[in-house]
Amino acid sequence: MNLFRKKTIHDILKSADNDAHHSGLARHLGVRDLTAFGIAAIIGAGIFSTIGKASADGGPGVIFLFLFTAIACSFAAFAYAEFASLIPVSGSAYTYSYVAFGELFAWIIGWALIMEYAIGNVTVAISWSDYFTSLISNATPYKINEWLCLDYFTAKAAYSKVLAALLSGNTIEQIAANPDYKGYMEGYYAYASAPSIGSLKIIFDAPALLINVLITWLVYRGIKESRNASNIMVVIKLIVVFLVIVVGAFFVNTENWNPFLPNGIGGLLSGISAVFFAYIGFDAISTTAEECKNPQRDMPRGILYSIIICTVLYVAIALVITGIVKYNELKVGDPLAYVFEKISSLKWLSGVIAVSAVVAMASVMLVFQLGQPRIWMTMSRDGLLPGAFAKVHPKFKTPSFSTLFTGLMVALPIFFVDINMVTDICSAGTLFAFILVCAGVLKLRTDPNAPKSTFKTPFVNAKYILPGLFILITLWLCIYEQEWLKYYFSFESWSAFFSKLPMYSFFIGFAVISVLAFRFNFSLIPTLGLLCCFYMLSQLGYKNWLYFCIWLVIGLVIYFAYGYSHSKLAKKV
Ligand code: ALA
Repeated sequence: MNLFRKKTIHDILKSADNDAHHSGLARHLGVRDLTAFGIAAIIGAGIFSTIGKASADGGPGVIFLFLFTAIACSFAAFAYAEFASLIPVSGSAYTYSYVAFGELFAWIIGWALIMEYAIGNVTVAISWSDYFTSLISNATPYKINEWLCLDYFTAKAAYSKVLAALLSGNTIEQIAANPDYKGYMEGYYAYASAPSIGSLKIIFDAPALLINVLITWLVYRGIKESRNASNIMVVIKLIVVFLVIVVGAFFVNTENWNPFLPNGIGGLLSGISAVFFAYIGFDAISTTAEECKNPQRDMPRGILYSIIICTVLYVAIALVITGIVKYNELKVGDPLAYVFEKISSLKWLSGVIAVSAVVAMASVMLVFQLGQPRIWMTMSRDGLLPGAFAKVHPKFKTPSFSTLFTGLMVALPIFFVDINMVTDICSAGTLFAFILVCAGVLKLRTDPNAPKSTFKTPFVNAKYILPGLFILITLWLCIYEQEWLKYYFSFESWSAFFSKLPMYSFFIGFAVISVLAFRFNFSLIPTLGLLCCFYMLSQLGYKNWLYFCIWLVIGLVIYFAYGYSHSKLAKKV
């Protein structure tokens, strides 16, 4: 059994050329389109929603988190850009891992990317629905029924909680006025008012399903149509983001920036997953490589330009909103709209922001929904998935079956999934992919026979820098963070031990990579990319690691039951 059989870059390019020639994906995208695609994928639920909680926990200093995450993502982006210019085919991280590490890792990455694209889109669709339903009820005389705005399990759990409070003697008015029950009333009313078939209540998030159907249709219709729609949506959201920054700047009260880091580093780091989520998406550009006019030149530029533009905007927005109101007021789901609602002369802007949030999130969905089928198409071409996944529509020139299947994969969880869980799982899958892509670049760099990419990450030797960094951090922990060390070296219970496992893994990983960097003269940028992403992954909590591992095991079962024997490489041998 050869689990690490590899494809050469030459083979991949040849077969992609063949497949593209037969299937005829259309090459329409230039550097401007790619940058716009990047911005379309990046600016979305993160900046319109999750930044609120991150700012409330971290204070104005959340900009440091944005900068750290931007740097980490840029390190990973260099690795993506290098691979994308070396292997300009649709499979993104999946194909890169095939070349660097062989088939098993490629499958694992392809499987993990479902978490980023399809599961990520579940998150965005649900957030989109939240904004959309509140927009309808604020801006029109209509209100969508609660049982058409929520998933079944969230409604059922909320119903049980409120019912328990009712049974213990409270009135519904008392419960609704209790801040502990904020967020549960909607679920209670949804469950209580829902129609039923027999004993089964009918409760589902209709707007989330609707936007999923619309986006799937658009992506199915063609890359040109998707590009045009995406470009329009990007223009709208950029105008609104500029408006927020420029108009908001006049209302900043610098006293609100004091204290800058109210909850210290701990408070800041608790926002890491939310802030990282705001950056996810730049890698999705690489899935359109076969539809680019000049992928070698344009792909790296598109990726890096979009990260730089978004970072500048994010930092500016964070400074503006934490300057307009005190940081601790920002624990809301719509922080941008919230701060402008506070300024009586600017209430209109709050409505504009709500509309643009709906547009911004739709564009994120569009790019993710575009990325997922292209990865499946590539996996199918390799024989790891059935042939239908590689089918390209004769008229629309898009991977038709994969596109529809993606729509279904996004639709099903919408019925029963909890949004917080999918956000973290999406981040975990994405970080895992980033780590392997950075590791892939390091691996190729140590192979003297590997072909040279037209885009090369600037080389700085990590030989002494990385082990030096490891020693410095260890010394710093020993001298200044003894409490922290004591906590990690003590054993209280098994559950406490499990919750520390991600941090242990990070430190062991850091030590091993330092030794490898010393031994093989690793390039500093991909090495730091790998470590920064590993660190962020270690902050996601062990439950997410557990869910992620279960997901991987399911993937491995499918690989061994189907992919291993159907792989084109198996047929070659
Ligand atoms: N970065 C994307 C968003 O914030 C996923 O919606």
